[in-house]
Amino acid sequence: MESHAFFDINDFEKIMISFFCVFSFRKTMEMLCRQGRYPWFFVMLKSQKGSVAEVVKPLQLLKKEKIKMERIIKTVTGKFTQETLDFVEKVFTEYSDEEEGKVVRELVAEIRSKKYYIPELDLMMVNEIEEVIGYVMFSGFHLEGNYEKELLLLSPAAVKTELQRQHISKELIEYGFEVAKKLGYKAVIVEGNPQNYQARGFRTSANYGIVPGETVHLPDIACLMVKELEPGALEHIKGQVNYDFYESLR
Ligand SMILES: CC(C)(COP(=O)(O)OP(=O)(O)OC[C@H]1O[C@@H](n2cnc3c(N)ncnc32)[C@H](O)[C@@H]1OP(=O)(O)O)[C@@H](O)C(=O)NCCC(=O)NCCS
Repeated sequence: MESHAFFDINDFEKIMISFFCVFSFRKTMEMLCRQGRYPWFFVMLKSQKGSVAEVVKPLQLLKKEKIKMERIIKTVTGKFTQETLDFVEKVFTEYSDEEEGKVVRELVAEIRSKKYYIPELDLMMVNEIEEVIGYVMFSGFHLEGNYEKELLLLSPAAVKTELQRQHISKELIEYGFEVAKKLGYKAVIVEGNPQNYQARGFRTSANYGIVPGETVHLPDIACLMVKELEPGALEHIKGQVNYDFYESLR
């Protein structure tokens, strides 16, 4: 019996079609993983294995080690003004709780509405599908009304939960340092876990005479840190850190 012309393909064409199918399948899976969507076969695996951890582990390995994701740093404009607010709220809610998520969201919105805002230092990282994967904000700061033209505050820093510990904040923060230097700023203050910031050159601020004021409650004095953007910049910058000019932190 004669076969229909449409199905009459030679071996080479069969190999090419198989190759194309495998390639498309792999790309689709990678895209779904990158977007944080779990492909259907992981869901089936979950119901068979019974343990979420067993299913999620290979997915995380796939995400962390194999997929090369684009990392594009941009200043926040347009639709990202809202998207980055949603982003920081989500990251801090997952990291801590809903209240923390809301406070950080309000802090970002407040800084954007005030004179401390520096649009060139409102920075995000997006991937190739324009999904926000990281965010940092550097804004104007002062110590008891002094050094306004020299000091910056780094707050907040947030990285998509599934992509943390892959140097996303490192890239954003170091990019921010370069922009800040070009804008003439001399030093950056940050409050947080020293483990996250020491590798970026931040040191305990109290050692430089920059100390927590009444409105700053630290689990440890080492949690208030400072980094010089220019050698010797901190020789003349001293004083108390206070956050009383942020309504969202009162
Ligand atoms: C904190 C946060 C912004 C860090 O961003 P990140 O992209 O995950 O961090 P990075 O991969 O750039 O690592 C930064 C530094 O943290 C430290 N670090 C990385 N992995 C670590 C780990 N498993 N344990 C302890 N410290 C670690 C390292 O010093 C690292 O720098 P290095 O690798 O150059 O030495 C991010 O984890 C986050 O959004 N956390 C939730 C919200 C938050 O806590 N924000 C900051 C408030 S202080």
